[in-house]
Amino acid sequence: MKDTALRIADFKDSIFGVISRLAREHQAVNLGQGFPDFDGPEFMKDIVYKKMKEGHNQYAPFPGTPNLRQEISNYYERFYRLSYNPETQVTVTVGATEAIYLVIMGLINPGDEVIVLEPFYDSYVASIKMAGGIPVPVTMHAPDFTIDVKELTAAISPRTKLLILNNPHNPTGKVWAKDELEAVAKLTIQHDLYLLSDEVYEFLVFDGIKHIPTATLEGMKDRTITISSAGKTFGLTGWKIGWICANEKVTQACRLVHQYVTFAVSTPMQEAVAEGLKQLPDYLPGFVELYKGKRDSFYAEMKKLGFDFSLPKGTYFMMVPIAKHTKLNDVDFAMKLIKENKVATVPPSAFYLKSTEGEKFLRFCFAKKEETLRAAVENLKGL
Ligand SMILES: Cc1ncc(COP(=O)(O)O)c(C=O)c1O
Repeated sequence: MKDTALRIADFKDSIFGVISRLAREHQAVNLGQGFPDFDGPEFMKDIVYKKMKEGHNQYAPFPGTPNLRQEISNYYERFYRLSYNPETQVTVTVGATEAIYLVIMGLINPGDEVIVLEPFYDSYVASIKMAGGIPVPVTMHAPDFTIDVKELTAAISPRTKLLILNNPHNPTGKVWAKDELEAVAKLTIQHDLYLLSDEVYEFLVFDGIKHIPTATLEGMKDRTITISSAGKTFGLTGWKIGWICANEKVTQACRLVHQYVTFAVSTPMQEAVAEGLKQLPDYLPGFVELYKGKRDSFYAEMKKLGFDFSLPKGTYFMMVPIAKHTKLNDVDFAMKLIKENKVATVPPSAFYLKSTEGEKFLRFCFAKKEETLRAAVENLKGL
């Protein structure tokens, strides 16, 4: 039989699949998978049943249901004073993953370069490669995962078209400060680049810090393409409802790809997310409190176990340095932890193209039930 396509020739099973399989085989407590091991809010489930019963069950309009696009537009206005026209600037996607794919497929020609800040969410590089683009990594340096502006400047060439930034950041838990964002924004303006701002954890910020959407920075509204995900905001990752807010030209490009990739997104889920977004002001304080409690207690336990790192300000991840506990690299130490200590984590070197800094860390996900986190801590005491 003939070969499969060259564009996927160097794709492998993702690290998440490998770790989850090993975790099952060794009955390890799984803090590797980046999603909650508990259910999302009851009120959202009630709404989706209601929407199904009311008959919202046929294909939705391909850019998204009018209700959901309107509510997305409303919350950007309400929370950030950002104005997006729901008709021409908001598109609903199958999670943020499809959003990333659409933006890259809609913008990138073969040979175009895309700056990715490493460690990165792994679908960025896969989508860039499928588009025939070239990912150009710039490292966020430990311990604070900061960008060296000189390195970023040097990475930009006449072929650079897009820069991808993730804030709050998976896997490090970093929340970008305004001056850091402004430094990146300034370069994108100078070099006339698009900026894809992946803000799926926009509401998972702690300690009174305010999330700053990149599009709110001076001169950035038009060149920033913002994506987010109801999966993260409502702890309902399986619903796979995401969105893109962008200028009309980019929106049109994304929609042209979307109409041939998925065409339309689940109608009752969209209608339920529209209702959920209306309730954000009531819902968010409890949501943030829940995850903050998990972060604080798990962080305290990790400190007691001798892991030394600063408290993550956002997301549900901790990037934990391992050098005090082992001479092994991240992958070998992760394997050892699964097999000997029965705790699964993610080795972050898979999220780097250039630097080896990731070998000195493991990513722990604390979006887990108290009993899961307690069991992990008990098992880690054997270290
Ligand atoms: C940074 C980042 N972007 C995008 C996604 C994908 O989100 P979704 O589940 O909505 O496709 C994730 C999921 O883990 C993520 O961590």
